[in-house]
Amino acid sequence: MLPWRISRKGRAARDENRVNAAPMKFDVPLPIDDALPALVDALRARDAAVLVAPPGAGKTTRVPLVLAAEPWAKDRKILVLEPRRIAARAAAARMAATLGEQVGETVGYRVRFGSKVSRRTRIEVVTEGIFTRLIIDDPALDGVAAVLFDEFHERSLDADLGLALARDAQRGLREDLRLLVMSATIDGARIARHLGDAPVIASEGRAFAVETRYLGRAPQTPIEAQVADATLRALRAEAGSILVFLPGTAEIRRTESRLKERLSDPAVDVVPLYGALDAATQDRAIAPSRRGSRKVVLATSIAETSLTIDGVRIVIDSGLARVPVFEPDVGLTRLETVRVSRAAADQRRGRAGRTEPGVCYRLWDEGQTASLEPFLRPEILSADLSSLVLDLAPWGIADPDQLTFLDPPPRAALAEAKALLRELGAIDADGRITAEGKMLNRLPLPPRLARMVVDAAREGAGLLAAQIAVLVTERGLGGDDIDLGHRLDGLRRDRSRRAEEARALAKRWADLAAPKASASAAIPSPGAILALAYPDRIGKNRGGGNGAFLLANGRGAHVDPAAALAREPYGARTRRAGGTDCACGHRGALRRPHRGHRRDHLRCAILEPARTAAAPAGRARACRAADRGHRRRSRRACARRRHRKARPRPLAMEQGTDAVARSRALPSSR
Ligand SMILES: Nc1ncnc2c1ncn2[C@@H]1O[C@H](COP(=O)(O)OP(=O)(O)O)[C@@H](O)[C@H]1O
Ligand SMILES: [Mg+2]
Repeated sequence: MLPWRISRKGRAARDENRVNAAPMKFDVPLPIDDALPALVDALRARDAAVLVAPPGAGKTTRVPLVLAAEPWAKDRKILVLEPRRIAARAAAARMAATLGEQVGETVGYRVRFGSKVSRRTRIEVVTEGIFTRLIIDDPALDGVAAVLFDEFHERSLDADLGLALARDAQRGLREDLRLLVMSATIDGARIARHLGDAPVIASEGRAFAVETRYLGRAPQTPIEAQVADATLRALRAEAGSILVFLPGTAEIRRTESRLKERLSDPAVDVVPLYGALDAATQDRAIAPSRRGSRKVVLATSIAETSLTIDGVRIVIDSGLARVPVFEPDVGLTRLETVRVSRAAADQRRGRAGRTEPGVCYRLWDEGQTASLEPFLRPEILSADLSSLVLDLAPWGIADPDQLTFLDPPPRAALAEAKALLRELGAIDADGRITAEGKMLNRLPLPPRLARMVVDAAREGAGLLAAQIAVLVTERGLGGDDIDLGHRLDGLRRDRSRRAEEARALAKRWADLAAPKASASAAIPSPGAILALAYPDRIGKNRGGGNGAFLLANGRGAHVDPAAALAREPYGARTRRAGGTDCACGHRGALRRPHRGHRRDHLRCAILEPARTAAAPAGRARACRAADRGHRRRSRRACARRRHRKARPRPLAMEQGTDAVARSRALPSSR
């Protein structure tokens, strides 16, 4: 029941149809309070609204509590969508604390690993991916009064899809459903137009002042060295804890060791914060620091939005972020290091003014701020769309054109996605979902991995395949060895809660794929199983002992020459000496091994996509697949064209520094 510690004024508040009633009052005032009456009125009158308010205003942790007490939400749920698990957990914890309750009572959360909800839960904070599954399973969103899209400026594929599906539901099935899009940095007017001229409520807020200091960037100096210098300087010059933004885990680890070498003060704790850490470690990183001590939190863009880290009043921004970029012509998602957008840089700076006035050090020159992209490019414009197309197929939507997206998915990527789904047997020639496709859709996995789990389950190896699927979609799980076999061993031995939840999840997927499967006598090797998903990435050792492989899709790949895998004749094929030189590029080869194959001996590496480089022959082939008209172009012209097409532009210096990777670079915190 809502509210508890929150008082409402007078009898009139009980009149459920009263318009312009004062919204509830809270003990602690927040900037958003001034905008709440307008927001409440807007959603009483309309089915959608946009809320733009600066970081720290109270969007995430106050608005859901207010809306849950609205008459139209009576006895139904408010869903709050967050882009990351850590944000979902933190938002639920903060709201529950506001009510003086435990998480899982009135306010709960649901993420991929674990959830805390009960029958009493009225506000459910979920990740965007969870919401997509939810609305696909129940298009009418039974029992849901409103969906709040928080941090919408991040424009993940799932958020865009979620909004399109929710709009569709509103039109056909649920006219009473309310939608609210929230962010500190969005083009509110554009989204409002998309939502049928929905009202835009803006709050000026009163975030604390943050002074910006530009430190410039020395191109020859590694980013971690400069970040470490800036951190030490800030520790000397300023009071309070520090939040440092770095592009990825490798840079975080290197900065951490540099700082630990040079920091002698026992009252300063250096803590990393990134998606691949387990929930307990993440929660410790954002908890208040020990009495009398300061914290230096080294984070990826995971800490850019949603989180309030107690005591942080200094932000150091490297200006870099790592983003997944899909290359449709080779079907590969790579992680690229890019300059952050202006909106993201402002979000990062805003972290310094959450609880008191702060300072933000930027590792670039002031003049360069103007050349940053204003907003992050929406993921839908550069992502692998096969999951999206398969997700939509059961809705009877053979073509995503039938839905209204804020930015429509690009035609080329859609065609590529459909071709892949046809190849996987998931849709027929008319784009209709097949019985096999329905099987694949039951698994919350990218279609290639779903296909792998379903196929392996038929051979009694569903559990092993599901464990592999968890490993390749979750960074850092089972360790960071590139050898899949070692990672599986690591996962099985790991006693942490994250690993336990991952094993339980794999078991659920295996049961979904083949409820009554019995283990077969001969379980294929992990490499053979992964090759069911990625036959195009079977690699043949080029010889020479330097760890260079030629993949079946024509690309090159490298493994550390010191790794045992570097001496395998095939990166994901037989170890048998004298095997045929077949870097098979089609599924059938693995289903029906031909002479020379010993699929039970396939070994497999999980390679950093950013480290795979196009081999000369492969580049030509990739061009051929992408564009039939290329033939008269020289190979070099093709390469130039492909390079120009690639966006956002990578910073070569920072590229490929992170050794752990997945075949599909799902940001693992989602
Ligand atoms: N975990 C927390 N610890 C301390 N203060 C918090 C916490 N979460 C939120 N707050 C306070 O509540 C305010 C509003 O937070 P939030 O709802 O996350 O804002 P927004 O979503 O608009 O950025 C913050 O400025 C901060 O003062
Ligand atoms: Mg927020």
